[in-house]
Amino acid sequence: MTKIAILTGAGISAESGLGTFRDAKGLWSQHRIEDVATPEGFARDPARVHRFYSARRQQAARATPNAAHRALAELEQRWPGEVVIVTQNVDPLHEAAGSRNVLHMHGTLAGALCAACDHRWPAPQEMTTDTTCPACHALRSRPDVVWFGEVPYHLDEIGDHLTEASLFAAIGTSGQVQPAASFVQEAAYGGARTVELNLAPSDISDAFDERRFGPATEVVPDWVRALLSHGPE
Ligand code: OAD
Repeated sequence: MTKIAILTGAGISAESGLGTFRDAKGLWSQHRIEDVATPEGFARDPARVHRFYSARRQQAARATPNAAHRALAELEQRWPGEVVIVTQNVDPLHEAAGSRNVLHMHGTLAGALCAACDHRWPAPQEMTTDTTCPACHALRSRPDVVWFGEVPYHLDEIGDHLTEASLFAAIGTSGQVQPAASFVQEAAYGGARTVELNLAPSDISDAFDERRFGPATEVVPDWVRALLSHGPE
């Protein structure tokens, strides 16, 4: 039965009020990546990094899933084969919409990780430099997110999904960050048909067999409706 692998990025959560990274008013126009999204930035100024992620955690907790998240949850429920979402997003909106088969390759805001003993636990809404590890009591707590220079999570499992998928879709991602930007080639190499759904062409649009442009809350429900009524082309 046809497996569908879907890569999502910040664009799918934009209409839920969560900022993207590289659009004109995106997060990376307000913060330097090297300050808030690298292990070196955390070592230099952990309080600044905690402030950045605590603000995002609180914002994400207030956000609600939009029609695009809901359409993907419906696809997972109604599609006769497996649907897997690989998301670069650290927000909980896919799960909030009802998706169950979700891999967070860049971690989640909901998680805390001890840099001393690797223990993981649910993050408090506000993490600070005073947040101690409940297992070893070290003062080295960090958000359980993947920073630049670190290895994304679940890569082996994601590789298997990409190889097995008959259809691969990338939704709301700029294609500027590896390894996610290469998933389209990996899936195509495994024989998948590939489709990009984005507000506008991404840097890697040409790599896809099909492109659908517009806001995620419009193009994703349309695409899901077409799949559920006709199957993959
Ligand atoms: P980007 O900010 O790089 O790209 C967002 C994409 O979403 C762009 O291609 C926009 O055109 C598109 N977009 C914006 N609004 C949209 C809408 N309403 N509907 C559909 N598409 C829309 O975000 P990502 O590609 O997710 O990593 O960024 C990838 C990674 O870079 C992130 O996970 C993060 C970041 O640095 C880390 O922090 C490690």
